[in-house]
Formats: sequence, C-alpha cells, structure tokens
Amino acid sequence: MESIQNPANFRKLASRISKKKPILALKAGRSAAGASAASSHTGSLAGADKAANALLGQSGVIREYSLKNLFATAKVFANCPIPKGDRVAIITNSGGPGIMATDAVCEYGMQMAKISDATKDKLRSFLPSAASVKNPIDMIASAPIEHYKQTLETVIADENVDMIMVIYLPFLGLKDIDVAKAVMEIKAQYPQKPVIGVFMTKSEFFTALSDMDVNMPFFMYAEEAADGFNRLNQQRKWIERPEGTIMKYDVDYKRAQEIIAKSINEGREQLTTRESIDVLDAYGIRVCKSGFAKSEDEAVSIADSIGYPVVMKMTSKTTSHKTDVGGVRVNIQSAEQLRAEYQDLIAKLTEKGLLEGLEGVIIQEMVKGSREMVCGIATDPQYGPMMMFGLGGVFIEVMKDVTFRIAPLTDMDAKDMIKSVKAYKLLQGARGTTPAQMEQIEETLLRLSQLVSDFKFIDELDINPLLISEKTGEGIAVDGRIKVRMKEAQEALGYHCENGVCACSF
Ligand SMILES: Nc1ncnc2c1ncn2[C@@H]1O[C@H](COP(=O)(O)OP(=O)(O)OP(=O)(O)O)[C@@H](O)[C@H]1O
Ligand SMILES: [Mg+2]
Repeated sequence: MESIQNPANFRKLASRISKKKPILALKAGRSAAGASAASSHTGSLAGADKAANALLGQSGVIREYSLKNLFATAKVFANCPIPKGDRVAIITNSGGPGIMATDAVCEYGMQMAKISDATKDKLRSFLPSAASVKNPIDMIASAPIEHYKQTLETVIADENVDMIMVIYLPFLGLKDIDVAKAVMEIKAQYPQKPVIGVFMTKSEFFTALSDMDVNMPFFMYAEEAADGFNRLNQQRKWIERPEGTIMKYDVDYKRAQEIIAKSINEGREQLTTRESIDVLDAYGIRVCKSGFAKSEDEAVSIADSIGYPVVMKMTSKTTSHKTDVGGVRVNIQSAEQLRAEYQDLIAKLTEKGLLEGLEGVIIQEMVKGSREMVCGIATDPQYGPMMMFGLGGVFIEVMKDVTFRIAPLTDMDAKDMIKSVKAYKLLQGARGTTPAQMEQIEETLLRLSQLVSDFKFIDELDINPLLISEKTGEGIAVDGRIKVRMKEAQEALGYHCENGVCACSF
C-alpha cells in the first residue's frame, strides 16, 4: 500500500478481520511528510509513516518492510496454524545452527520450551548417547531419517512445546528431499502445532519443493524461521488481546472551551503555558499545585501559600519554549530568592525584547522526581490526531524513545503505549525509584485522547514533562503546550464579527 484513504474506516474493518485472519501489509513511502512547521515536541517527532505504522499496529495488521519478508511471512501463515503459546523447541543435527536459532528465538522475546522429563527419557531411548535431549535438541550429525521422524513425533506431542523448528544440514548418504518428506509425514499427523523446516542446503532443494505439495514452510536459515514464529506469535497475541474500550470521563468541557475561545478571540493559535495547563486541569489531568502572578508581590504570596521550594516560569502569548530564554527558574528556596529571580527574569526578557507578550509568571510546587515523561498529540494531515508517549524532558529529541497511536485510544492502546517504550523499565522503578502509577498514567493518555476528540481542531499538544513524583509515583503535568488550527477552531466555536467586534459564540 502507498496510503490509507480512510484511516478510521480502515481501522474499524481491519481490526475486526485481523482477529479472524492475519493481514499482512507492505507499506511503501517511508519518508516523513507534513512535519514542517511543527513547533511542539510531538509534532517534530511524528512523520506520516509513524502514523501509518501506528494505525496498522492498532488494527492488528502485520507490517513487513520488504517484499522478501512479505512473501516469507505469507508462506508461514499459509502453512502453519496459530500457536497456543510462544514456547519453541528446536531439533537439529548440528550444534552451531541450533545455538544461532536459539539466539534468534530469544531475541524476539519468545521462550525456549522446557522439554518434559518424560519426553527426554523417550528421546534418550533411541538417540545416541552423544546427543543432547535438552532444548535445542541435538541429534548429532549422523542422525538418520528415522531419528528425524521419531524425534519430531516425540517432541511435537510434548505439552510444553508450542512451535518446532527442524534444522537439517546435509549428511552423507541422506537425500534432502527425503528428510523433508519424512518430517512432513509426521507433521501431517499433528496439524495443530506449527513446524518450520530449516534446510541449510542447496537451492535446488527449494526449487524441487516448489513443485510439491507441502504442509509446512521451509527456509534456508534459522533466522528466517524465527521471524516466522515471531509473526505467528504476534498474531496469537493480537487474537488474545481484549478489544478495549474508549473511555469517557467526567470533565469540565465548558471551562476548557472558554479558555480556548479566549485565545481564539485574541487571534492566537498557540495557547499560553497557563492556558494550556488550565485546559489540562479542566480535563482532569493531574497538574501540579500552582498559581498565576502578575507582580513580584503576588508571586511571593502565592509561593507562601504553596510552600517552598517552588518553580517560577514565565507564561507568554508570544514565547512558547521558555527554557530557551531563561524563563524557567527551578528550586527557589525562599522569598528573597524568588524576588531576585523575578527581577532577573524581567530584566532578561526586557533585554531580549520579549516583555510584550508576557502574561505573568506561574508559581508551581517543585515536584520531586527524576523521571520526565512526555505525552502529547500531533496531527497527521492524512491520519488525523495521533497520541504520543515516551521519555520526555529536555533531551526528548535526542533520545527519541517515544511511541505513537492514532486517536481515539482504547484502554488497551494506552496500556500498550506505556509498555512499548524503553523507559517503561524506568517507570517500573529501576534503581530504587518509586514505581510509577501506571493506571494513572494510562488515564492521563485516555483523558488527552478525549480532549482531542472533543476539540478536533487541536493541532498539537504536549505535556513535557509529565514528571513522575518520587513521593507518590503519580505522573504530574508541570508544563503544557497547546496549538489549534485557527480556521477550524473558529468554525467549531462559532467565531463571528458584529459591529467590528469579533468573538466566539458557542
Ligand atoms: N514544577 C516543577 N517541578 C519540578 N521541576 C520542574 C517544574 N517545572 C519545570 N521543571 C523542570 O524544568 C524543566 C523545564 O520546564 P518546562 O518544561 O516548564 O519549560 P520549557 O521551556 O517548556 O521546556 P521545553 O521547551 O523543553 O518543553 C522541566 O523539564 C523540569 O525538569
Ligand atoms: Mg516543557
């Protein structure tokens, strides 16, 4: 495919069909498009291909990246049932390829099956003493056809085994095709378990096979067979995965609408930091304790009520990335320090000519936590709003540990998102940190998804960082950035002019 004309429809249909029949797709055209003019973190990381990738994944479509792999996977699905689990047994007549196959299986996160004692005893009864009956099962190089048959028959009956790879390296006196026929004969008696043959032999063997009726796939290399098992396993997990629901939370829609309308009325596509955080708050997203101040004295009195240490950050109608202009002051310990920082901030902004857009400053509680995540929304011109989650903070563009899903999110999507980033390990509590409240973070993503469903004209949004509190493990939004598409927003909010006064009237 080159593109998906109607993404919503595609998702609906494909996710239903793929539960019954695997869908494989090869999508061409991976270059990013439409990422220009992206002022937010989410925007600059999201290209069209990421959107397509998210959509395919959420629809249960198995994506391949080359024609070669597309055909290989098709061959696997055409000749294998869906396994009951991910425990792989490897039968081989050569140690090295058995080990390589083991590596490939493990690197996909599948398990090496634990062969039962009864199976091992049975294998020992006919295999030579030099053979290894532990998985990978090494019958040694001299294994005759009869051993292939007996070993496969024994292993395939083991309840601890879900999938079997049969490796064959040419041995003097054996005909490749005879070995393959013998293996297929046993396979025919056990149609419920996937078996893949790895025949490290001449290409003539594969030519001969192509004229035959086969009941299992054959490849030249173990890695290809592991790829195949991984695809089967992916399909199994998709079938077993609950469908998930799109949540509807009780939110303060009206308040969010009013905040956005104010920005529209003033002709601003980009909401200020304060407005953005207030919209998040209206949607029940956990934001940090904070207050808005227009003067030094106000700042001090808010800080007194919040309690030190505090953070002071500018909120402006013209400047969105605050750190770049020295607009964020963290860990302020006292009223004196706050006053000094306030004066310094105003002086710096004056110097840079940035005072004009300044609304004031936000005084926030200083959230203790070293883990900074990011959640956001980006809009793809074709696929629409897309959710982002991953490792945040100031190095987000460098680390690129983020994942995308098309909105609206189901609860299952939100769970998947959190688990699919590398930083998941950090959230679980690496190195003695407080384990993050996963469900609360999931809910944050779901509430954001609801926000963009309600206000379809939101073009970009990010919470960076969503700080993981060391005290409670909660994800707390300490920063927010929202941008809308002006024309659409005006239409949706009934913007019109009367007697020279233009305003929204919803
Ligand atoms: N309330 C807070 N508690 C603790 N740390 C904070 C708080 N607010 C900000 N920080 C720290 O300061 C950094 C920058 O703050 P913030 O995200 O508000 O500014 P920014 O200029 O928008 O940054 P960016 O442009 O990179 O998103 C955060 O990544 C975080 O490390
Ligand atoms: Mg930020």
